[in-house]
Amino acid sequence: MTTPPAGVPRLEIHFGDNLAVMQDWPGALFDLIYIDPPFNTGRVQSRTQMHTVRDDAGDRTGFKGRRYRSVRLGTKSYADVFDDYLAFLEPRLLDAHRLLKPTGSFFLHLDYREVHYAKVLLDAIFGRASFINEIIWAYDYGARATRRWSPKHDNILWYAKDPMNYTYRYDDIDRIPYMAPGLVGPEKAARGKTPTDTWWNTIVSPNGKEKTGYPTQKPLAIIERIVRVHSNPGDVCLDFFAGSGTLGEAAIRNGRSAVLIDNNEEAVRVMKRRLALVRPEVSQSGSLDIDQDQTEVATREVAGETTYADA
Ligand SMILES: C[S@@+](CC[C@H](N)C(=O)[O-])C[C@H]1O[C@@H](n2cnc3c(N)ncnc32)[C@H](O)[C@@H]1O
Repeated sequence: MTTPPAGVPRLEIHFGDNLAVMQDWPGALFDLIYIDPPFNTGRVQSRTQMHTVRDDAGDRTGFKGRRYRSVRLGTKSYADVFDDYLAFLEPRLLDAHRLLKPTGSFFLHLDYREVHYAKVLLDAIFGRASFINEIIWAYDYGARATRRWSPKHDNILWYAKDPMNYTYRYDDIDRIPYMAPGLVGPEKAARGKTPTDTWWNTIVSPNGKEKTGYPTQKPLAIIERIVRVHSNPGDVCLDFFAGSGTLGEAAIRNGRSAVLIDNNEEAVRVMKRRLALVRPEVSQSGSLDIDQDQTEVATREVAGETTYADA
């Protein structure tokens, strides 16, 4: 990684496995790290279910030294990679902690099925005191379930490296309308209120102009709010599961630098196209021949185009 000159936001894209890319970097480089890792890698796993019964000659010791015997209930195969997933995530979360500056913040974007397990892992890595918020991104799109409440939210965990000293730009929080503006008077109603830890925002519209075509693209408004409030202008942000580069666009629009990593060729192509106006530096540890990729210049305007074009 090249160190960005102070005050000149720039963008780097790295193609390769994030663990391999990050291992060469010395610590404490980033002010803000946001990641949105994939969950299901599609491999079939098998898990053996065990049950324990009290037995003085048993193979396990439990509460107050009581002995238990393990009984095997059977083995199930399933198409998720839950055990593997945490093993996959852990070294990357350790790197996130290592690479954060002392006043930096880390955001982990997951869905409701795995967030609890990841939180336990992060509490161990950052310390429980460093956990500041669980943000619920609530959306309301698509079909409704008929046998349970429709799950329509993602979870975003926020950890500060130092819970006593972190960036939180309260004045830069965007305002949202009051639910009952008639109850608060015209002045407050016109100013709006700050959001709570539940953020209502629609998904990236399948036919809207924000859409890049990358399947798991997250809304710019969500990531921009994180960038604006949790980093300062000129800071350096990292997304090491970058996908379509939403964090990169959010950073550049707000005068921050961004470093993006992805191991999928398609993601790198989409990012190059999306962020072409700021001429990202692209480095590659994989086989993608990025220079020969016919990148069309983005037609959508990225704020600060002229300021950053020569960075
Ligand atoms: C859920 S998507 C991220 C979407 C992104 N937040 C956006 O708004 O477009 C996860 C990304 O992680 C990438 N990825 C998965 N494993 C990776 C690894 N080991 N190293 C780098 N990238 C990886 C995938 O290629 C995918 O693009």
